[in-house]
Formats: sequence, structure tokens, C-alpha cells
Amino acid sequence: MDKLQITGGRPLEGEVRISGAKNATLPILAATLLADGPVTISNVPHLQDVTTMIELLGRMGVTVTIDEKLRIEVDPTTIREQFAPYELVKKMRASILVLGPLLARYGEADVSLPGGCAIGARPVNIHVAGLQAMGADIHIENGYIKARTGKARAGRLKGARLVLETVTVTGTENLMMAAVLADGETVLENAAREPEVVDLANFLIAMGAKIRGAGTDRIVIEGVERLHGCSYEVMPDRIETGTFLVAAAITGGHVRTKNTCPAYLDAVLLKLQEAGAKLAQGDNWIELDMRGRRPKAIDVRTAPYPAFPTDMQAQFAALDAVADGVGTIIETVFENRFMHMLEMRRMGAEIRLEGNTAIIKGVPKLMAAPVMATDLRASASLVLAALVAEGQTVIERIYHIDRGYESIEEKLSGLGAQIRRVPGR
Ligand code: EPU
Repeated sequence: MDKLQITGGRPLEGEVRISGAKNATLPILAATLLADGPVTISNVPHLQDVTTMIELLGRMGVTVTIDEKLRIEVDPTTIREQFAPYELVKKMRASILVLGPLLARYGEADVSLPGGCAIGARPVNIHVAGLQAMGADIHIENGYIKARTGKARAGRLKGARLVLETVTVTGTENLMMAAVLADGETVLENAAREPEVVDLANFLIAMGAKIRGAGTDRIVIEGVERLHGCSYEVMPDRIETGTFLVAAAITGGHVRTKNTCPAYLDAVLLKLQEAGAKLAQGDNWIELDMRGRRPKAIDVRTAPYPAFPTDMQAQFAALDAVADGVGTIIETVFENRFMHMLEMRRMGAEIRLEGNTAIIKGVPKLMAAPVMATDLRASASLVLAALVAEGQTVIERIYHIDRGYESIEEKLSGLGAQIRRVPGR
């Protein structure tokens, strides 16, 4: 398994191009299953999770090709089976996103139930209950969700008013994808407002879907009979953007993130400002300047968008670990997303954990140590900590980081970091 070797101490300087958003690409790829013809998607990031989703589509018989401009063309009409096997779902929970589209388009889907997860229980009960309320017949058998629409309604789901028990991103996306081909109107109340949900809605609209209210907590979908192919460009990755901005702040650097969208990062930018960073922004770039200053400790409380994202919590924990003062991090979205705190302690961070709260007393210097990545964002926080630690940190299990950060070592070296991938046996 590959490792990352990072020698800390260099302020990051320069420009970095932000990739397309992982968490928009995954539902958009799943949504191609709904179309009657080929779909072309651009700005797709080269990531392990995207490869897994493409593999999943390929396994079902869908034709996926990549053209010379790195655009992905998906032809869903060659599909042979509506089946998502355990071996792929266990690699990536977001595979559950094929459930809604398969059921809506083909009237049947056998999708493995995702298992446990390193950051929390992450059940899919809301996805399943929503589809049942739309008339689907669903059984759990041998670890698989077996869903059928039933012949009575000529194989179509039926529009319904769904009040989601918890704000769920992929739950909202799955039900929105199911509703676009349903018979009648579906209303999703307490819907997730994440920009990735809006990007998916825009993609569905480009295929002919009738959706209003995406980006609010009430999404109204008028089912149509069919969706056509289209071309679509995926939105920039707001979490990758935020991670590079924290990298600049933590190292006392000066970095411009390009090809991004500042509007998606309000809560994160506010916290960076509180930490003492100077920020400038244009339509599609954000620049952060922290030269010659130590960050101030900040308090963070994660919650669904537009509040502070859980996917940025670990990175801000790294910032607090070297900040001036004491910062408190409260995680409200996932119940077990503090594994990075224990690894950062091994690098000399002073962190006290009380339930879902971490109290972090900034130290002037972290020390290099061998550490282990436990999930995607946890591994990002260890990279950040290593960038300021004294000595050479070796991070193991970096396949986690390859799931969600495109060419991280190349992008960071481009900004002056001393980072090297060591291929594993
Ligand atoms: N939940 C339920 N029942 C459900 C669905 C969710 O109880 O049926 C709970 C979850 O257990 C959790 C909360 O609701 O406590 C919110 O989870 P959500 O469903 O919103 O998470 P998700 O859709 O599985 C997506 C992202 C995550 C991101 C979360 C929260 C994708 C592919 N994944 O997950 O991204 O952390 O939303 O914003 O969009 C990452 O990129 O590192 C990542 C984990």
C-alpha cells in the first residue's frame, strides 16, 4: 500500500487548480442510468471513488468511454442487469445512489446494503422508506435491498409527499432521481440543500426533468415519462478548495485556488477569516494570505449546508492544533468522526475528547510521527498536520485520500510542499 512522506515547515505559495466535485460526480454518474440516450460529462475528477462508480455502471452492462478531452460518455442503453454487487458497494457506500435511478427507469433493482463505516452507522432507512412511500415493494434479502415497482402501476413509481426524518444528502439525491420518472408530483420536505444536490438537479433538468426548489429544503419534482441525453459540466469541489485554503493558512502561506466557486464556501471562509486569514475572491477563485502569522484558534460546529460542513471538520482540527488559543470542534452529523484526533495526538496535538466535542489547545509545533489514515477527510487532516510538523511524517493507508483528492501530492508539491508518494508492496 502506498504511503505519503511529508517533511513539514514550508509555507505554501502559488496557484492550484481545483478539480470537479467528487460528491456531485457520483450522483450524476448514477443519474445517467435514467437517460434514454448517451450523456457526456466533463470536469470529472480522476479519483478512486469515481473509478468505482464507473466500474459499477460497467458491471451492469452500461457503456462508459473517456474521450480525448477527458470527458466521460455514458451510454446507459446497453444495460443488462439492475444489480449492484456487495464487492463494489463495500468499497464505496455512494454506490447506493444507483438504487433510485434503477428502480425509476427499470422497475427493479438489487443493491447490496452498505455495511458499517469508519465515521458512523450511516443507515439508508430514509432512502428505503421514501421509495416505499412512492409505491416500491422492498425487501432486504441476504444483505441485498431488493426493490420492485410492481406491475399495477405499469412499472412506474408514484409521486408522493415525503418528509425526510433527517437531512440526508444522498437520501435526497436518491429520492429526487427516483421522482423524476415517477407518475405525478413528488415533494421532498426537509431536503438537503448542499450545492451537490443542486448540481444533480441541474443535470437532471438538462436531461428534461422538471424540478424546482433544489437548494431549499423543499424540492418539488413533476415526473416525466422519459429523459434524454445531454452534456454537462460538474461543479468545482468545495471541500478540495477548503482543504487547500486550510493548507495555506496552517503553513502561513499565500495560495490562490482556481476554477472554484466562492459562493459554496461561505461558512468555511468565515472561519478562515476568524482564524486571521486575509481573503480575496473573484467569480471563480479564492486567495488566502496568512504570511508571517500564526492562526488563531476557532470554534466549529458541523451541520448540514449552509452551515459548516462535516467534510471540513478534520482539516480545521489540524488548524486548531497549531493555533494560538483553545478551539472547540463539535461534530453533529456523524457520531464517530474523530479518529484523526487520536492520530494527531501522536504528533503532539493537545486534544481532549468529550462525546461529540473536541477541545483543542494549540501548540506552537507539532512533531512528525508515523500515522495512519482512517477515512478520507481524516487523511486530509493528517496531511495538513504533517505540512507544519517538525521532521518527516509518514502517512499510511493513503488509499483513503486517493478516493477524494485528485493528485494531492502533485498539487501540494506545486505549492512548494515537500511531499512524496512511496509506492507500497
Ligand atoms: N442518515 C440516516 N438515515 C439515512 C440516511 C442518513 O440516519 O437513511 C443519517 C446519517 O447516518 C448521518 C446523517 O443522516 O448521521 C447525514 O448523513 P447523509 O446521508 O447526509 O450522508 P451521506 O449522504 O451518506 C454525503 C457525502 C459525505 C458527507 C455527508 C454529509 C456523498 C457521496 N457523501 O454522505 O461525504 O460527509 O453527505 O455532508 O455525497 C466525504 O466526501 O468524505 C463524505 C463522507
